[in-house]
Amino acid sequence: MKASELRSKYIEFFRSKGHAVIKSAPLVPENDPTVLFTTAGMHPLVPFLLGEPHPLGRRLANFQKCIRTGDIDEVGDPVHLTFFEMLGNWSLGDYFKKEAIEFSFEFLTSKQWLGLPLDRLAVTVFEGDSDAPFDSDAMESWLRLGIPENRIARRPKKDNWWGPAGECGPCGPDTEMFFWTGQGEPPHVFSPDDKAWVEIWNDVFMQYNKTKDGRFLPLQQKNVDTGMGVERVAAILQGKSSCYDTELFAPIFEALSSIAGKPIPSSADPFLDRAARIVADHLRAAVFIMADGIAPGNVDQPYVLRRLIRRSVMQARKLGISGTFCAKIADAVIANYSDVYPELSAKSANIREEMDREEEQFHKTLDNGAREFEKFISRVPAHVTKKVISGRNAFYLYETYGFPVELTVEMAAEKGFSVDMDGYTEAYRKHQDLSRAGAEQKFKGGLADSSEMTVKLHTATHLLHKALRTVLGEHVEQKGSNITPERLRFDFSHPEKMTDSQLIQVQAIVNEAIAKNMPVSIEQKTVQEALEDGAIGLFVEKYGEKVKVYSIGDFSKEICGGPHAENTGSLGKFRILKEESSSRGVRRIKAVLE
Ligand code: ALA
Repeated sequence: MKASELRSKYIEFFRSKGHAVIKSAPLVPENDPTVLFTTAGMHPLVPFLLGEPHPLGRRLANFQKCIRTGDIDEVGDPVHLTFFEMLGNWSLGDYFKKEAIEFSFEFLTSKQWLGLPLDRLAVTVFEGDSDAPFDSDAMESWLRLGIPENRIARRPKKDNWWGPAGECGPCGPDTEMFFWTGQGEPPHVFSPDDKAWVEIWNDVFMQYNKTKDGRFLPLQQKNVDTGMGVERVAAILQGKSSCYDTELFAPIFEALSSIAGKPIPSSADPFLDRAARIVADHLRAAVFIMADGIAPGNVDQPYVLRRLIRRSVMQARKLGISGTFCAKIADAVIANYSDVYPELSAKSANIREEMDREEEQFHKTLDNGAREFEKFISRVPAHVTKKVISGRNAFYLYETYGFPVELTVEMAAEKGFSVDMDGYTEAYRKHQDLSRAGAEQKFKGGLADSSEMTVKLHTATHLLHKALRTVLGEHVEQKGSNITPERLRFDFSHPEKMTDSQLIQVQAIVNEAIAKNMPVSIEQKTVQEALEDGAIGLFVEKYGEKVKVYSIGDFSKEICGGPHAENTGSLGKFRILKEESSSRGVRRIKAVLE
Protein backbone atom coordinates (compact mmCIF):
# COMPACT_ATOMS: atom_id res chain seq x y z
CA MET A 1 0.00 0.00 0.00
CA LYS A 2 1.33 3.39 -1.01
CA ALA A 3 1.48 6.32 1.40
CA SER A 4 -1.30 8.12 -0.48
CA GLU A 5 -3.65 5.18 0.10
CA LEU A 6 -2.61 5.00 3.75
CA ARG A 7 -3.46 8.70 4.26
CA SER A 8 -6.86 8.32 2.55
CA LYS A 9 -7.72 5.12 4.41
CA TYR A 10 -6.89 6.72 7.74
CA ILE A 11 -9.04 9.76 7.00
CA GLU A 12 -11.87 7.60 5.67
CA PHE A 13 -11.73 5.36 8.74
CA PHE A 14 -11.92 8.21 11.22
CA ARG A 15 -14.56 10.00 9.19
CA SER A 16 -16.62 6.82 9.45
CA LYS A 17 -16.17 7.07 13.22
CA GLY A 18 -17.61 10.59 13.33
CA HIS A 19 -14.38 12.62 13.13
CA ALA A 20 -14.17 15.96 11.30
CA VAL A 21 -11.07 16.29 9.15
CA ILE A 22 -8.83 19.30 9.71
CA LYS A 23 -6.03 20.55 7.50
CA SER A 24 -2.33 20.11 8.21
CA ALA A 25 -1.19 23.28 10.02
CA PRO A 26 1.98 25.06 8.85
CA LEU A 27 5.33 23.75 10.10
CA VAL A 28 6.01 27.06 11.79
CA PRO A 29 3.57 27.44 14.67
CA GLU A 30 1.66 30.68 14.78
CA ASN A 31 1.87 32.64 18.02
CA ASP A 32 3.56 29.88 19.93
CA PRO A 33 6.97 30.74 21.29
CA THR A 34 7.40 27.34 22.93
CA VAL A 35 8.82 25.56 19.90
CA LEU A 36 10.38 26.41 16.57
CA PHE A 37 8.43 23.84 14.59
CA THR A 38 5.22 21.87 14.74
CA THR A 39 6.44 18.58 16.19
CA ALA A 40 3.12 16.74 16.44
CA GLY A 41 -0.45 17.05 15.24
CA MET A 42 -1.59 18.05 18.73
CA HIS A 43 0.49 21.17 18.66
CA PRO A 44 -1.91 23.51 16.89
CA LEU A 45 -4.70 22.04 19.03
CA VAL A 46 -3.38 23.02 22.49
CA PRO A 47 -6.09 25.66 23.18
CA PHE A 48 -8.76 23.05 22.37
CA LEU A 49 -7.09 20.38 24.47
CA LEU A 50 -7.26 22.89 27.32
CA GLY A 51 -11.02 23.25 26.92
CA GLU A 52 -11.76 25.89 24.31
CA PRO A 53 -14.55 24.52 22.05
CA HIS A 54 -13.33 23.58 18.56
CA PRO A 55 -15.60 24.90 15.79
CA LEU A 56 -15.70 21.44 14.17
CA GLY A 57 -16.63 19.49 17.25
CA ARG A 58 -15.09 17.01 19.65
CA ARG A 59 -13.73 14.40 17.23
CA LEU A 60 -10.98 15.47 14.85
CA ALA A 61 -8.50 13.73 12.54
CA ASN A 62 -5.84 14.77 10.06
CA PHE A 63 -2.42 14.19 8.64
CA GLN A 64 0.10 16.77 9.80
CA LYS A 65 3.54 17.86 8.57
CA CYS A 66 6.04 17.66 11.44
CA ILE A 67 9.68 18.54 12.01
CA ARG A 68 11.71 17.04 14.84
CA THR A 69 15.37 17.88 15.17
CA GLY A 70 15.90 16.22 18.57
CA ASP A 71 16.99 12.91 16.99
CA ILE A 72 19.04 14.45 14.19
CA ASP A 73 22.05 12.29 14.96
CA GLU A 74 19.97 9.18 14.38
CA VAL A 75 18.67 10.32 11.01
CA GLY A 76 19.80 7.91 8.32
CA ASP A 77 19.05 4.77 10.36
CA PRO A 78 15.98 2.87 9.11
CA VAL A 79 13.38 4.77 11.18
CA HIS A 80 14.50 8.31 12.06
CA LEU A 81 13.54 11.33 9.99
CA THR A 82 13.70 15.09 10.48
CA PHE A 83 10.53 15.71 8.51
CA PHE A 84 7.68 13.25 8.74
CA GLU A 85 3.95 13.11 8.35
CA MET A 86 1.82 12.17 11.32
CA LEU A 87 -1.66 10.71 11.09
CA GLY A 88 -3.65 11.76 14.12
CA ASN A 89 -7.07 11.49 15.69
CA TRP A 90 -8.32 13.47 18.66
CA SER A 91 -11.08 13.28 21.16
CA LEU A 92 -11.66 16.62 22.88
CA GLY A 93 -13.44 15.44 25.99
CA ASP A 94 -15.45 12.90 23.99
CA TYR A 95 -14.33 9.23 23.84
CA PHE A 96 -11.46 8.05 25.99
CA LYS A 97 -9.15 5.05 26.42
CA LYS A 98 -11.41 2.13 25.53
CA GLU A 99 -12.72 3.60 22.27
CA ALA A 100 -9.35 5.08 21.25
CA ILE A 101 -7.67 1.68 21.63
CA GLU A 102 -10.52 -0.05 19.80
CA PHE A 103 -10.21 2.42 16.91
CA SER A 104 -6.44 1.88 16.70
CA PHE A 105 -6.83 -1.89 16.84
CA GLU A 106 -9.53 -2.00 14.17
CA PHE A 107 -7.62 0.28 11.80
CA LEU A 108 -4.39 -1.70 12.19
CA THR A 109 -5.76 -5.23 12.01
CA SER A 110 -9.06 -5.24 10.11
CA LYS A 111 -8.77 -6.59 6.55
CA GLN A 112 -10.91 -3.64 5.43
CA TRP A 113 -8.20 -1.24 6.61
CA LEU A 114 -4.49 -2.09 7.08
CA GLY A 115 -4.90 -5.79 7.82
CA LEU A 116 -1.63 -6.10 9.78
CA PRO A 117 -1.12 -9.57 11.31
CA LEU A 118 -1.97 -9.67 14.99
CA ASP A 119 1.00 -11.91 15.84
CA ARG A 120 3.41 -9.17 14.78
CA LEU A 121 1.83 -6.48 16.95
CA ALA A 122 2.82 -5.54 20.48
CA VAL A 123 2.02 -2.65 22.79
CA THR A 124 3.36 -0.78 25.80
CA VAL A 125 1.33 0.70 28.66
CA PHE A 126 2.26 3.08 31.49
CA GLU A 127 3.43 1.13 34.56
CA GLY A 128 2.48 3.81 37.13
CA ASP A 129 4.46 5.88 39.61
CA SER A 130 3.89 8.33 42.47
CA ASP A 131 2.27 10.88 40.08
CA ALA A 132 -0.20 8.60 38.34
CA PRO A 133 -1.31 4.94 38.72
CA PHE A 134 -0.66 1.96 36.42
CA ASP A 135 -2.85 2.30 33.32
CA SER A 136 -4.96 -0.78 33.96
CA ASP A 137 -7.72 0.52 31.65
CA ALA A 138 -5.37 0.49 28.67
CA MET A 139 -4.04 -2.94 29.66
CA GLU A 140 -7.53 -4.41 29.94
CA SER A 141 -8.61 -2.94 26.62
CA TRP A 142 -5.68 -4.57 24.80
CA LEU A 143 -6.21 -7.94 26.51
CA ARG A 144 -9.89 -7.86 25.62
CA LEU A 145 -9.04 -7.24 21.97
CA GLY A 146 -6.75 -10.27 21.89
CA ILE A 147 -3.23 -8.90 22.44
CA PRO A 148 -1.63 -11.56 24.67
CA GLU A 149 0.00 -10.52 27.94
CA ASN A 150 3.48 -11.45 26.68
CA ARG A 151 3.08 -8.80 23.98
CA ILE A 152 2.20 -6.03 26.43
CA ALA A 153 5.13 -4.29 28.15
CA ARG A 154 4.72 -2.01 31.15
CA ARG A 155 6.96 1.02 30.91
CA PRO A 156 7.84 3.99 33.15
CA LYS A 157 7.11 7.67 32.59
CA LYS A 158 10.25 8.28 30.57
CA ASP A 159 8.86 5.96 27.86
CA ASN A 160 5.08 6.04 28.22
CA TRP A 161 4.05 9.55 29.01
CA TRP A 162 3.44 12.38 26.60
CA GLY A 163 3.03 16.13 26.84
CA PRO A 164 4.01 19.08 24.68
CA ALA A 165 7.78 19.59 24.95
CA GLY A 166 7.68 17.53 28.15
CA GLU A 167 6.92 20.65 30.17
CA CYS A 168 3.77 22.12 31.71
CA GLY A 169 0.38 21.70 30.10
CA PRO A 170 -1.91 18.86 29.08
CA CYS A 171 -0.24 15.47 29.33
CA GLY A 172 -0.84 11.90 30.36
CA PRO A 173 0.04 8.24 30.02
CA ASP A 174 0.22 6.74 26.58
CA THR A 175 0.07 3.35 24.96
CA GLU A 176 2.39 2.71 22.05
CA MET A 177 1.91 0.16 19.28
CA PHE A 178 4.85 -1.71 17.77
CA PHE A 179 5.24 -3.88 14.70
CA TRP A 180 7.77 -6.69 14.29
CA THR A 181 10.04 -5.94 11.30
CA GLY A 182 12.65 -8.61 12.02
CA GLN A 183 13.31 -11.84 10.15
CA GLY A 184 11.06 -14.76 11.04
CA GLU A 185 8.71 -14.98 13.99
CA PRO A 186 8.98 -12.35 16.73
CA PRO A 187 10.37 -13.53 20.10
CA HIS A 188 7.72 -14.86 22.50
CA VAL A 189 8.13 -11.98 24.95
CA PHE A 190 7.97 -8.45 23.57
CA SER A 191 10.78 -6.06 24.42
CA PRO A 192 10.47 -2.52 23.01
CA ASP A 193 14.26 -2.20 23.26
CA ASP A 194 14.70 -4.68 20.43
CA LYS A 195 15.12 -2.45 17.37
CA ALA A 196 13.26 -4.91 15.13
CA TRP A 197 10.09 -3.87 16.98
CA VAL A 198 9.28 -0.51 15.38
CA GLU A 199 6.95 1.93 17.08
CA ILE A 200 4.18 2.88 14.69
CA TRP A 201 1.42 4.58 16.66
CA ASN A 202 0.99 6.33 19.96
CA ASP A 203 -2.32 6.90 21.76
CA VAL A 204 -1.92 9.55 24.44
CA PHE A 205 -4.53 9.88 27.16
CA MET A 206 -4.39 13.49 28.23
CA GLN A 207 -5.92 13.41 31.65
CA TYR A 208 -3.56 15.66 33.60
CA ASN A 209 -2.37 19.24 33.49
CA LYS A 210 1.23 19.51 34.65
CA THR A 211 1.58 22.72 36.64
CA LYS A 212 4.68 24.90 36.76
CA ASP A 213 5.52 23.56 40.21
CA GLY A 214 5.50 19.99 38.88
CA ARG A 215 2.12 18.77 40.13
CA PHE A 216 -0.18 16.64 37.99
CA LEU A 217 -3.73 17.92 38.38
CA PRO A 218 -6.60 16.01 36.76
CA LEU A 219 -7.84 17.81 33.64
CA GLN A 220 -11.52 18.67 33.59
CA GLN A 221 -11.68 17.65 29.95
CA LYS A 222 -10.05 14.28 29.27
CA ASN A 223 -8.67 14.06 25.75
CA VAL A 224 -7.17 11.55 23.39
CA ASP A 225 -4.25 12.59 21.18
CA THR A 226 -2.80 10.04 18.78
CA GLY A 227 0.03 10.02 16.29
CA MET A 228 1.06 7.45 13.66
CA GLY A 229 4.08 7.90 11.40
CA VAL A 230 3.19 7.76 7.70
CA GLU A 231 6.70 6.88 6.51
CA ARG A 232 7.15 4.03 9.01
CA VAL A 233 3.76 2.47 8.38
CA ALA A 234 4.08 2.82 4.59
CA ALA A 235 7.41 0.96 4.77
CA ILE A 236 5.84 -1.82 6.86
CA LEU A 237 2.88 -2.15 4.51
CA GLN A 238 5.30 -2.47 1.60
CA GLY A 239 7.44 -5.06 3.39
CA LYS A 240 10.45 -2.72 3.45
CA SER A 241 12.92 -2.64 6.28
CA SER A 242 13.53 1.12 6.13
CA CYS A 243 11.47 4.30 5.83
CA TYR A 244 13.82 5.34 3.05
CA ASP A 245 12.82 2.43 0.81
CA THR A 246 9.37 3.61 -0.24
CA GLU A 247 8.01 5.74 -3.06
CA LEU A 248 8.26 8.77 -0.73
CA PHE A 249 12.04 8.74 -1.18
CA ALA A 250 12.57 6.91 -4.48
CA PRO A 251 12.48 10.05 -6.71
CA ILE A 252 15.03 11.75 -4.45
CA PHE A 253 17.47 8.85 -4.81
CA GLU A 254 16.84 8.75 -8.56
CA ALA A 255 17.77 12.43 -8.77
CA LEU A 256 20.86 11.88 -6.60
CA SER A 257 21.92 8.95 -8.79
CA SER A 258 21.54 10.96 -11.96
CA ILE A 259 23.56 13.85 -10.48
CA ALA A 260 26.33 11.53 -9.26
CA GLY A 261 26.27 9.34 -12.37
CA LYS A 262 26.08 6.15 -10.29
CA PRO A 263 23.39 4.30 -8.32
CA ILE A 264 22.67 5.91 -4.93
CA PRO A 265 22.27 4.30 -2.50
CA SER A 266 24.29 1.41 -3.86
CA SER A 267 24.08 -0.85 -0.78
CA ALA A 268 27.79 -1.49 -1.22
CA ASP A 269 28.93 0.73 1.63
CA PRO A 270 26.68 1.33 4.68
CA PHE A 271 28.60 4.52 5.51
CA LEU A 272 27.85 6.03 2.09
CA ASP A 273 24.28 4.79 2.10
CA ARG A 274 23.72 6.55 5.38
CA ALA A 275 25.14 9.77 3.88
CA ALA A 276 22.69 9.40 0.98
CA ARG A 277 19.78 8.96 3.38
CA ILE A 278 20.82 12.03 5.38
CA VAL A 279 20.91 14.13 2.20
CA ALA A 280 17.48 12.83 1.19
CA ASP A 281 15.99 13.43 4.64
CA HIS A 282 17.49 16.88 5.15
CA LEU A 283 16.63 18.29 1.76
CA ARG A 284 13.09 16.91 1.92
CA ALA A 285 12.72 18.67 5.30
CA ALA A 286 14.32 21.85 3.92
CA VAL A 287 11.84 21.99 1.02
CA PHE A 288 8.86 21.69 3.36
CA ILE A 289 10.25 24.36 5.69
CA MET A 290 10.85 26.72 2.77
CA ALA A 291 7.36 26.10 1.41
CA ASP A 292 6.07 27.49 4.71
CA GLY A 293 7.85 30.79 4.10
CA ILE A 294 11.22 30.36 5.83
CA ALA A 295 14.48 31.36 4.14
CA PRO A 296 17.93 30.36 5.46
CA GLY A 297 19.26 32.65 8.17
CA ASN A 298 21.17 32.76 11.43
CA VAL A 299 18.54 32.36 14.12
CA ASP A 300 15.61 30.11 14.96
CA GLN A 301 13.87 28.33 12.07
CA PRO A 302 16.02 29.99 9.38
CA TYR A 303 19.08 28.64 11.21
CA VAL A 304 17.73 25.08 11.38
CA LEU A 305 17.01 25.33 7.66
CA ARG A 306 20.52 26.58 6.95
CA ARG A 307 22.02 23.70 8.94
CA LEU A 308 19.92 21.14 7.07
CA ILE A 309 21.09 22.43 3.70
CA ARG A 310 24.70 22.69 4.79
CA ARG A 311 24.75 19.22 6.27
CA SER A 312 23.31 17.92 3.00
CA VAL A 313 26.06 19.60 1.01
CA MET A 314 28.72 18.09 3.26
CA GLN A 315 27.22 14.60 3.16
CA ALA A 316 26.82 14.81 -0.62
CA ARG A 317 30.57 15.39 -0.94
CA LYS A 318 31.05 11.90 0.47
CA LEU A 319 28.96 10.64 -2.43
CA GLY A 320 31.19 12.42 -4.91
CA ILE A 321 28.76 15.28 -5.49
CA SER A 322 30.51 18.61 -5.23
CA GLY A 323 28.65 20.90 -7.66
CA THR A 324 25.42 22.75 -6.96
CA PHE A 325 22.70 20.11 -6.71
CA CYS A 326 20.17 20.95 -3.98
CA ALA A 327 17.64 22.62 -6.29
CA LYS A 328 17.46 19.43 -8.38
CA ILE A 329 16.60 17.43 -5.29
CA ALA A 330 14.06 20.09 -4.35
CA ASP A 331 12.42 19.57 -7.76
CA ALA A 332 12.10 15.86 -7.06
CA VAL A 333 10.52 16.51 -3.65
CA ILE A 334 8.14 19.13 -5.03
CA ALA A 335 7.00 16.84 -7.86
CA ASN A 336 6.48 13.94 -5.45
CA TYR A 337 4.42 15.81 -2.86
CA SER A 338 2.59 18.69 -4.51
CA ASP A 339 -0.66 16.81 -5.00
CA VAL A 340 -0.95 16.46 -1.21
CA TYR A 341 0.82 19.70 -0.21
CA PRO A 342 0.12 22.24 -2.98
CA GLU A 343 2.13 24.89 -1.09
CA LEU A 344 5.24 23.16 -2.45
CA SER A 345 4.48 23.80 -6.12
CA ALA A 346 3.14 27.27 -5.28
CA LYS A 347 6.53 28.20 -3.83
CA SER A 348 8.71 26.13 -6.19
CA ALA A 349 10.48 29.01 -7.95
CA ASN A 350 11.29 30.62 -4.65
CA ILE A 351 12.51 27.35 -3.11
CA ARG A 352 14.83 26.66 -6.05
CA GLU A 353 16.24 30.18 -5.97
CA GLU A 354 16.89 30.12 -2.21
CA MET A 355 18.46 26.66 -2.42
CA ASP A 356 20.89 27.81 -5.09
CA ARG A 357 21.76 30.97 -3.21
CA GLU A 358 22.34 29.18 0.07
CA GLU A 359 24.43 26.48 -1.55
CA GLU A 360 26.64 28.98 -3.37
CA GLN A 361 27.09 31.00 -0.22
CA PHE A 362 28.04 27.84 1.65
CA HIS A 363 30.65 26.92 -0.93
CA LYS A 364 32.22 30.33 -0.28
CA THR A 365 32.04 29.68 3.46
CA LEU A 366 33.75 26.34 2.98
CA ASP A 367 36.55 28.03 1.04
CA ASN A 368 36.95 30.51 3.90
CA GLY A 369 36.91 27.62 6.37
CA ALA A 370 39.64 25.88 4.40
CA ARG A 371 41.75 29.05 4.67
CA GLU A 372 41.12 29.18 8.41
CA PHE A 373 42.14 25.54 8.65
CA GLU A 374 45.39 26.37 6.84
CA LYS A 375 46.05 29.07 9.44
CA PHE A 376 45.71 26.57 12.29
CA ILE A 377 48.17 24.31 10.49
CA SER A 378 50.67 27.05 9.74
CA ARG A 379 50.76 28.21 13.37
CA VAL A 380 52.33 24.93 14.46
CA PRO A 381 56.13 25.13 14.06
CA ALA A 382 57.65 22.55 11.72
CA HIS A 383 59.83 20.98 14.42
CA VAL A 384 56.85 19.96 16.63
CA THR A 385 56.55 16.20 16.31
CA LYS A 386 53.06 15.68 17.73
CA LYS A 387 50.95 17.92 15.50
CA VAL A 388 47.40 18.34 16.82
CA ILE A 389 44.40 20.49 15.94
CA SER A 390 42.79 21.38 19.27
CA GLY A 391 39.24 20.29 20.01
CA ARG A 392 38.27 23.94 20.39
CA ASN A 393 39.53 24.77 16.91
CA ALA A 394 37.88 21.70 15.38
CA PHE A 395 34.61 22.76 16.98
CA TYR A 396 35.13 26.32 15.76
CA LEU A 397 35.46 25.01 12.18
CA TYR A 398 32.30 22.98 12.66
CA GLU A 399 30.26 25.73 14.26
CA THR A 400 31.39 28.65 12.10
CA TYR A 401 32.12 27.01 8.76
CA GLY A 402 29.98 23.90 8.96
CA PHE A 403 32.97 21.55 8.71
CA PRO A 404 31.91 18.18 10.09
CA VAL A 405 34.66 16.93 12.33
CA GLU A 406 35.34 13.94 10.03
CA LEU A 407 36.26 16.40 7.29
CA THR A 408 38.65 18.21 9.61
CA VAL A 409 40.16 14.85 10.61
CA GLU A 410 40.62 13.91 6.96
CA MET A 411 42.15 17.23 5.97
CA ALA A 412 44.36 17.17 9.07
CA ALA A 413 45.62 13.66 8.28
CA GLU A 414 46.72 14.81 4.84
CA LYS A 415 48.97 17.33 6.59
CA GLY A 416 50.26 14.89 9.21
CA PHE A 417 48.03 16.29 11.97
CA SER A 418 45.59 14.62 14.31
CA VAL A 419 42.50 16.16 15.93
CA ASP A 420 41.92 16.21 19.69
CA MET A 421 38.59 14.36 19.57
CA ASP A 422 38.03 14.42 23.35
CA GLY A 423 38.44 18.20 23.29
CA TYR A 424 36.06 18.41 20.35
CA THR A 425 33.41 16.31 22.12
CA GLU A 426 33.78 18.45 25.23
CA ALA A 427 33.34 21.71 23.24
CA TYR A 428 30.36 20.21 21.40
CA ARG A 429 28.71 19.10 24.64
CA LYS A 430 29.16 22.51 26.27
CA HIS A 431 27.53 24.11 23.27
CA GLN A 432 24.59 21.67 23.41
CA ASP A 433 24.04 22.43 27.09
CA LEU A 434 23.89 26.12 26.25
CA SER A 435 21.41 25.55 23.40
CA ARG A 436 19.26 23.41 25.64
CA ALA A 437 19.22 26.13 28.30
CA GLY A 438 18.14 28.56 25.54
CA ALA A 439 15.37 26.23 24.43
CA GLU A 440 14.09 25.85 27.98
CA GLN A 441 14.08 29.62 28.33
CA LYS A 442 12.04 29.81 25.18
CA PHE A 443 9.46 27.45 26.60
CA LYS A 444 8.59 29.76 29.46
CA GLY A 445 5.58 32.01 28.96
CA GLY A 446 4.19 29.89 26.18
CA LEU A 447 0.72 29.86 24.76
CA ALA A 448 -0.15 27.10 27.19
CA ASP A 449 0.07 29.48 30.15
CA SER A 450 -1.82 32.33 28.40
CA SER A 451 -0.51 34.81 30.98
CA GLU A 452 -2.10 38.26 31.07
CA MET A 453 0.97 39.97 29.63
CA THR A 454 1.37 37.44 26.80
CA VAL A 455 -2.27 37.93 25.88
CA LYS A 456 -1.91 41.75 25.88
CA LEU A 457 1.19 41.52 23.72
CA HIS A 458 -0.70 39.24 21.35
CA THR A 459 -3.39 41.92 20.92
CA ALA A 460 -0.65 44.53 20.43
CA THR A 461 0.78 42.30 17.69
CA HIS A 462 -2.48 42.61 15.74
CA LEU A 463 -2.33 46.40 16.10
CA LEU A 464 1.28 46.38 14.91
CA HIS A 465 0.46 44.17 11.91
CA LYS A 466 -2.27 46.57 10.83
CA ALA A 467 -0.13 49.66 11.44
CA LEU A 468 2.68 48.17 9.32
CA ARG A 469 0.29 47.54 6.45
CA THR A 470 -0.99 51.12 6.75
CA VAL A 471 2.50 52.66 6.71
CA LEU A 472 4.41 50.26 4.43
CA GLY A 473 1.68 48.78 2.22
CA GLU A 474 -0.39 45.68 1.66
CA HIS A 475 2.63 43.53 0.81
CA VAL A 476 3.27 43.26 4.54
CA GLU A 477 2.31 39.77 5.68
CA GLN A 478 2.97 37.98 8.93
CA LYS A 479 5.91 35.59 8.61
CA GLY A 480 6.25 34.65 12.23
CA SER A 481 5.28 35.69 15.70
CA ASN A 482 6.87 34.90 19.01
CA ILE A 483 5.43 36.27 22.21
CA THR A 484 6.71 35.95 25.75
CA PRO A 485 5.33 37.86 28.76
CA GLU A 486 8.24 40.29 28.33
CA ARG A 487 8.03 41.25 24.67
CA LEU A 488 6.56 40.56 21.28
CA ARG A 489 8.54 39.65 18.20
CA PHE A 490 6.92 39.96 14.83
CA ASP A 491 8.38 38.90 11.48
CA PHE A 492 6.84 40.27 8.31
CA SER A 493 7.53 40.50 4.60
CA HIS A 494 9.12 43.77 3.56
CA PRO A 495 12.09 44.12 1.24
CA GLU A 496 14.16 46.77 3.01
CA LYS A 497 15.11 48.29 6.32
CA MET A 498 12.40 50.55 7.74
CA THR A 499 13.30 54.21 8.11
CA ASP A 500 13.17 55.95 11.49
CA SER A 501 10.20 58.00 10.39
CA GLN A 502 8.28 54.86 9.34
CA LEU A 503 9.02 53.30 12.74
CA ILE A 504 7.81 56.42 14.55
CA GLN A 505 4.61 56.45 12.48
CA VAL A 506 3.92 52.76 13.15
CA GLN A 507 4.48 53.20 16.88
CA ALA A 508 2.21 56.27 16.94
CA ILE A 509 -0.60 54.46 15.10
CA VAL A 510 -0.48 51.56 17.56
CA ASN A 511 -0.52 53.94 20.55
CA GLU A 512 -3.46 55.87 19.09
CA ALA A 513 -5.36 52.58 18.65
CA ILE A 514 -4.60 51.71 22.27
CA ALA A 515 -5.73 55.15 23.47
CA LYS A 516 -9.10 54.74 21.72
CA ASN A 517 -9.82 51.82 24.10
CA MET A 518 -11.36 49.74 21.34
CA PRO A 519 -13.20 46.49 22.19
CA VAL A 520 -11.83 43.20 20.92
CA SER A 521 -14.59 40.96 19.57
CA ILE A 522 -14.63 37.47 18.15
CA GLU A 523 -16.77 35.84 15.48
CA GLN A 524 -16.70 32.42 13.83
CA LYS A 525 -16.86 32.43 10.06
CA THR A 526 -15.83 30.39 7.09
CA VAL A 527 -12.52 31.41 5.51
CA GLN A 528 -14.49 32.66 2.51
CA GLU A 529 -16.65 34.95 4.69
CA ALA A 530 -13.62 36.16 6.61
CA LEU A 531 -11.81 37.02 3.39
CA GLU A 532 -14.86 38.80 2.02
CA ASP A 533 -14.90 40.84 5.23
CA GLY A 534 -11.31 41.88 4.58
CA ALA A 535 -9.76 39.82 7.37
CA ILE A 536 -6.01 39.26 7.22
CA GLY A 537 -3.98 36.51 8.85
CA LEU A 538 -2.69 33.05 8.14
CA PHE A 539 -5.27 30.99 6.30
CA VAL A 540 -4.44 27.59 7.60
CA GLU A 541 -7.91 26.09 7.66
CA LYS A 542 -9.53 24.31 4.79
CA TYR A 543 -11.92 26.22 2.58
CA GLY A 544 -15.35 25.95 4.14
CA GLU A 545 -14.11 25.33 7.68
CA LYS A 546 -15.08 27.82 10.36
CA VAL A 547 -12.31 29.98 11.72
CA LYS A 548 -12.12 32.55 14.49
CA VAL A 549 -11.90 36.16 13.41
CA TYR A 550 -10.76 38.72 15.97
CA SER A 551 -11.76 42.36 15.36
CA ILE A 552 -10.28 45.27 17.24
CA GLY A 553 -12.91 48.02 16.93
CA ASP A 554 -13.00 48.83 13.22
CA PHE A 555 -9.21 49.06 13.18
CA SER A 556 -8.14 45.48 12.54
CA LYS A 557 -9.67 42.14 11.59
CA GLU A 558 -7.55 38.99 11.68
CA ILE A 559 -8.04 35.27 11.45
CA CYS A 560 -6.39 33.98 14.59
CA GLY A 561 -6.66 31.35 17.29
CA GLY A 562 -6.54 33.85 20.21
CA PRO A 563 -6.52 34.49 23.09
CA HIS A 564 -6.73 38.30 23.25
CA ALA A 565 -7.29 41.16 25.70
CA GLU A 566 -10.89 42.37 26.03
CA ASN A 567 -10.09 45.89 24.94
CA THR A 568 -7.06 47.89 23.88
CA GLY A 569 -7.27 50.35 26.79
CA SER A 570 -5.61 47.84 29.12
CA LEU A 571 -2.50 47.42 26.99
CA GLY A 572 -0.38 50.34 28.22
CA LYS A 573 2.20 52.15 26.10
CA PHE A 574 3.60 50.40 23.04
CA ARG A 575 7.30 50.86 22.27
CA ILE A 576 9.35 49.42 19.41
CA LEU A 577 12.76 48.30 20.66
CA LYS A 578 14.33 47.14 17.46
CA GLU A 579 13.81 46.63 13.73
CA GLU A 580 16.20 44.26 11.99
CA SER A 581 16.53 41.72 9.23
CA SER A 582 15.22 38.23 10.01
CA SER A 583 16.02 36.59 6.67
CA ARG A 584 15.96 37.78 3.10
CA GLY A 585 12.82 39.86 2.43
CA VAL A 586 11.67 39.43 6.02
CA ARG A 587 12.04 42.10 8.71
CA ARG A 588 11.69 41.59 12.43
CA ILE A 589 10.32 43.98 15.04
CA LYS A 590 10.75 43.54 18.76
CA ALA A 591 8.46 45.63 20.90
CA VAL A 592 7.19 45.94 24.47
CA LEU A 593 4.20 47.26 26.37
CA GLU A 594 5.12 49.62 29.21
N1 ALA B 1 1.41 13.64 20.27
C1 ALA B 1 1.72 12.26 20.36
C2 ALA B 1 3.06 11.92 19.75
O1 ALA B 1 3.63 12.73 19.07
C3 ALA B 1 0.64 11.44 19.77
O2 ALA B 1 3.55 10.84 19.93
